[in-house]
Formats: sequence, C-alpha cells, structure tokens
Amino acid sequence: MDPHKVEILLTEQEVNERIKELGKQITEDFKGKQVHLVCVLKGGSFFMCELAKRIDLPVSIDFMSVSSYGSDTKSSGVVKIVKDLDESIKGKDVIVVEDIVDSGRTLSYLLAMLRDRHPESLTLCTLLDKPSRRVVDVDVKYTGFQIPDKFVVGYGLDYDQVYRNLPYIGEVVFTK
Ligand code: IMP
Ligand code: MG
Repeated sequence: MDPHKVEILLTEQEVNERIKELGKQITEDFKGKQVHLVCVLKGGSFFMCELAKRIDLPVSIDFMSVSSYGSDTKSSGVVKIVKDLDESIKGKDVIVVEDIVDSGRTLSYLLAMLRDRHPESLTLCTLLDKPSRRVVDVDVKYTGFQIPDKFVVGYGLDYDQVYRNLPYIGEVVFTK
C-alpha cells in the first residue's frame, strides 16, 4: 500500500438510510414474490446483509466470487469465476448485489453468464456506481449512490484487502 489516508465520503448514517430506501423499493417492485439475492464476494457482502434485512419479502441468498483488482487500484479486465453459486437460479427472481460498478467489465460478464442459466428475472443492485469510468455498458436497476472517479473503501470495499470493515464509505487520498 502506498502512503495514504482515508477521508469520509459517505457517512454510516447516509449509507444506512439509503440502503433502507433501496430495500423498500425492492419490496414494492417484487411484491408477492420471493427474491434470490446473489452476493458478489467479497465486496458485496456487507451491503447484501444490510439490504436483505430491509427487504420485507421471502429472501434467499447465495454467494459467488470472481477475480477482481488484486492489490492494484486499476482493473485488469480479467474476469474469472473463483467460486460459483451453490444453488440453481433457474426460474428465480435474482438480484445481483454488488459493492461498486466501475468499468462494468466484471458485471457484464457475470450477468451474461447468469442469464444463460434462465432465471425468471435478473436485476442488478449496486451500492456505488462510478458512471464516468464505464467501459462496458451494464443495466443497473438499483443504485445506492453515484460517486465521482475516486478510489473508495469501506462497507465491503477494500484497498489491498484492508478497510472492508469501515462502517462508512471513505475516499483513499494518496499522500507522499
Ligand atoms: P469493474 O469490473 O471495473 O466494474 O470492477 C468492479 C470491481 O472492482 C468491484 O466489484 C470492486 O471489487 C473493484 N473496485 C472498483 N472500484 C473500486 C474502488 O473505488 N475501491 C475498491 N474497489 C473497487
Ligand atoms: Mg467486487
């Protein structure tokens, strides 16, 4: 890790309030149905737990892991499934829960792969979105916050595997 400090970008209260709203919206949109949350590890885990608690419907969950940034702060563009889902998603209303959509490479690959498994519906919910960084177009149904092109940590997001546990979203500011 290069010398840096972490500055608060979104407070714990702001994040939790927004997740509550997203849960409410999903509850309304999927009224009368059961939703299957697919968490993209590791970053999406904190968000998914908080979101799941705010959805007032029958909810099931599953996890998958794809390769991402490694220890760098730039996308390699290489996407590999490290851990696949435990259960079939066929016929289910699937909501993929992500920490952040950046270039969109990871998600577009993942969504195409999941679509091939014939879910009843497939939507994407991300806590954060950096639209200015998009390289591949992805259809994001639910977004917590759009943020500028900054490297952020906390609430599941890491810098070199650290800071996932921060209860807020912080910006990594590199110092010398
Ligand atoms: P994409 O394929 O470029 O959209 O990359 C998405 C993945 O990159 C996310 O799921 C994160 O794991 C990681 N990522 C992108 N931006 C950040 C950031 O600002 N902080 C930490 N991880 C990030
Ligand atoms: Mg991720």
